[in-house]
Amino acid sequence: MPHAAVPRSAAPARATAAAAARATDLSKVYGQGETRVVALDSVTVEFARARFTAIMGPSGSGKSTLMHCMAGLDSVTGGSARIGDVELAQLNDKQLTRLRRDRIGFIFQAFNLLPTLTALENITLPMDIAGRRPDREWVSRVVETVGLTGRLAHRPAQLSGGQQQRVAVARALAAQPEIIFADEPTGNLDSRSGAEVLGFLRESVRAMDQTVVMVTHDPVAAGYADRVVFLADGRIVDELYEPTADAVLDRMRRFDAAGRTN
Ligand SMILES: Nc1ncnc2c1ncn2[C@@H]1O[C@H](COP(=O)(O)OP(=O)(O)O)[C@@H](O)[C@H]1O
Ligand SMILES: [Mg+2]
Repeated sequence: MPHAAVPRSAAPARATAAAAARATDLSKVYGQGETRVVALDSVTVEFARARFTAIMGPSGSGKSTLMHCMAGLDSVTGGSARIGDVELAQLNDKQLTRLRRDRIGFIFQAFNLLPTLTALENITLPMDIAGRRPDREWVSRVVETVGLTGRLAHRPAQLSGGQQQRVAVARALAAQPEIIFADEPTGNLDSRSGAEVLGFLRESVRAMDQTVVMVTHDPVAAGYADRVVFLADGRIVDELYEPTADAVLDRMRRFDAAGRTN
């Protein structure tokens, strides 16, 4: 599905029509009794189309859980998670699998590439599985954007960590999903490779109107986003538009200080 282009200079998109994904009063509880953990506590948040949103917060604050619930990788305990107009709780397993395959792109901390396939084969694998013919022009553009031209015949073991993650980014972008969810995509990379990958993600939003939602605990990574949503103890506690790494760090320090005095 094509995404509506949103003028970048427009005021922060709060209009519900532009949301690529949305959580409403979303709760997630793991376990019961003494092992009961409220990972998400009535989270309401929208992720705008053609924007780069970072979900930021300390370890254990519920970032991955929010991403997993929004992407249909985990069930919700209460409230609603939607991709576009689709309420995930109303889908059966088969429909959920299809939605993840056809409409969502994933990038994880571990690159999850198949070692026996070349870079290009890894990039087009999800489309091959879905029986979709890759749009060759689009794939070339993606490959160029992420700087992999000339590396396409290499297998993962012949690529650096940064290059492998760029293959994973290209794989997510190549299928033109409505939304890409990335969980700590630079967690296994040195800072230079991390900066490259983040730059490419940002470029995909700028140049290709891709929608990206990225979980991170790194203020520098969050600084690449258009907007940062802050989670603490399973709740949205703040947000920041046009963040800089310094501004993000500053907010985090204030939450820490508030947490200590409470
Ligand atoms: N599968 C699970 N079973 C039980 N508890 C979990 C599970 N996944 C996450 N949690 C708990 O939920 C809370 C939020 O975890 P998570 O979303 O992974 O945090 P983050 O990604 O921000 O580090 C933590 O207290 C974590 O221990
Ligand atoms: Mg996590």
